[in-house]
Amino acid sequence: MNNLILKDDSATNILGKNIANILLKSSFDVIEIHLNGDLGTGKTFLTKSILKNSGWSRNVKSPTYTLCEEYEFNNLLFLHIDLYRTNEAEDILIFNLDRKINGKKIIIIEWPEKLKEPRPYDMKINLEHLDKSREASFNIKNNIFLGLDKNNV
Ligand SMILES: Nc1ncnc2c1ncn2[C@@H]1O[C@H](COP(=O)(O)OP(=O)(O)O)[C@@H](O)[C@H]1O
Ligand SMILES: [Mg+2]
Repeated sequence: MNNLILKDDSATNILGKNIANILLKSSFDVIEIHLNGDLGTGKTFLTKSILKNSGWSRNVKSPTYTLCEEYEFNNLLFLHIDLYRTNEAEDILIFNLDRKINGKKIIIIEWPEKLKEPRPYDMKINLEHLDKSREASFNIKNNIFLGLDKNNV
């Protein structure tokens, strides 16, 4: 898939909206997205946009200190993880990400490179600084996400 130039906040928001639409439409029980990229490239910003466009209308906190934030709504369980501040990557076990639930589970992990045991993902997005904009590149393992690069208008 092509890289996407995200000119400003609103372009990142559109990407988040397009991802949310795909998540809501898909029939998979579990979908996992990994977000790579330096500090400030927009990983949390993109996750907030995905959550809001999936129907979460309340506040979204960054999990920088808590490591994991959970959101339950509309038969969805959203787990947002940020591993930046942990050196104990096995800490992630306490969040029981692989629990069985009724409904759809969406897992988003910032700084997945800190995982001690790599986890399979449906899509990995790498965000990079590009002057005042951002560039997103995609590693897609689940075809539901194909086409995201062509649909950012
Ligand atoms: N396409 C973009 N171009 C410029 N700035 C952006 C873009 N997308 C998001 N941002 C900004 O980048 C910052 C990213 O912060 P954050 O999401 O906390 O980064 P990270 O979680 O990767 O450390 C936010 O202030 C947001 O407004
Ligand atoms: Mg972040």
